Amino acid sequence: MREQLAALREEGLAEVASAQNGEQLAAVEVALLGRSGRLTALLKGVGRLAAEERPLIGKLANEVKAALSQSLAAKQEELAAAELAQDLAGVGLDPTLPGPPAPFGAVHPVMQAARDLEDHFSSLGYVIWDGPEVESEANNFDALNIPADHPARESHDTIWMAEDTGPERFCLRTHTSPVQVRALRELGAPLRVVAPGRVFRQEAQDATHEHSFHQMEGLVVDKGVGVPHMLHAMNSLLEGVFGRKLETRLRPGFFPFVEPGFELDARCPFCKAGCRVCKGTRWIELMPGGLVHPHVLRSAGVNPNEYSGFAFGLGLSRIAMLRSNIDDIRWMMSGDLRFLRQFPS
Ligand code: PHE
Repeated sequence: MREQLAALREEGLAEVASAQNGEQLAAVEVALLGRSGRLTALLKGVGRLAAEERPLIGKLANEVKAALSQSLAAKQEELAAAELAQDLAGVGLDPTLPGPPAPFGAVHPVMQAARDLEDHFSSLGYVIWDGPEVESEANNFDALNIPADHPARESHDTIWMAEDTGPERFCLRTHTSPVQVRALRELGAPLRVVAPGRVFRQEAQDATHEHSFHQMEGLVVDKGVGVPHMLHAMNSLLEGVFGRKLETRLRPGFFPFVEPGFELDARCPFCKAGCRVCKGTRWIELMPGGLVHPHVLRSAGVNPNEYSGFAFGLGLSRIAMLRSNIDDIRWMMSGDLRFLRQFPS
């Protein structure tokens, strides 16, 4: 009986191994281990054995059964995997190929410009500061030395919040300059900050005017700060943004919160003889700035006899447009994917 069991094991394993598909395997299983299969038939002879031999044969039979069951299960898995692969190949699918690429988002040109500038200024020890988009009249105007009857207030085309917000009036900030005051109050002097953010104006929209756009404010306050420091900051900023030195010029400009006030123009980076971007003048207006007005320092609790500073207001949207060759500001906040997809980062 020992030999018979050993033979059953060998032959059974060979049969399992040669099964070509699930059906054949099922038939092999029934023939080997089924109720009227070969193992059952063999074990019927156990009763005729000597009593001391029975347990040994029983143990051996169990081992043969376990070996056969195990190889049946393994073979079944193997056949199932092969069948699946065949099915997939039938529908033209190769499961080993990588899937379709997941669509990646991209950084908006304005945010890319903001990030590059933040990197630039962080490396110079500036702090990145943030202010709210809904701002008090006091911060947006009064603390910046723009009195109630000043025409600058009208020229900003302010979008005001509903009247019933209490004694203080609130507006959508018209520029990032209120963050000058907020940063000064919170950090005190000396300080170096840049404040990127969105600003709002009630404008008739056209290719160069939009109700929402982005600026980046810069403010440095310390002892003995003057115009040369401002010029250096502005020029190195442009170099950081455009990757090379640009020729610049300074013109007088008026803003109630700086004195003296300037407008910085840069040589048009796109042409040698005048183009659409510089409107044929070869200069583009890039950045207003100036020395912080003593009233502003005072309204933020800083002593103007001890400290001085400079501030500049960079048109982030404008910089992004120049860098990416975008000719209409209305694209910037349009959310139009046909536009945005042109700037994979
Ligand atoms: N806040 C001004 C504007 O939006 C720009 C500016 C900033 C001018 C800082 C001078 C200094 O028009």
